[in-house]
Amino acid sequence: MIVCICNNVNSATIKATVQRGACSVDDVKETTGAASCCGKCQFKVNAIVQDTLSETSFPQQVSQG
Ligand code: FES
Repeated sequence: MIVCICNNVNSATIKATVQRGACSVDDVKETTGAASCCGKCQFKVNAIVQDTLSETSFPQQVSQG
C-alpha cells in the first residue's frame, strides 16, 4: 500500500527500512524520501515505524569505551 503519495513510498519499503536499522520518521525520511514533501503521511509513517519496532527485537548494543 502506498503511504507517501508524493514520493511513491509504500508500507513494505518503510517496514524494510526500519528492519535495516531506521528507528524514527526522520531516519525513514532520509532513506526513502517519505514524508519529505507535504508531510501529510508522517503520522502514517510514524505508525509503521512504531509497529515495526515493536515487532522487531534488536540485540541490545553495549557501548565500550
Ligand atoms: S504524502 Fe508523503 S510527503 Fe506528501
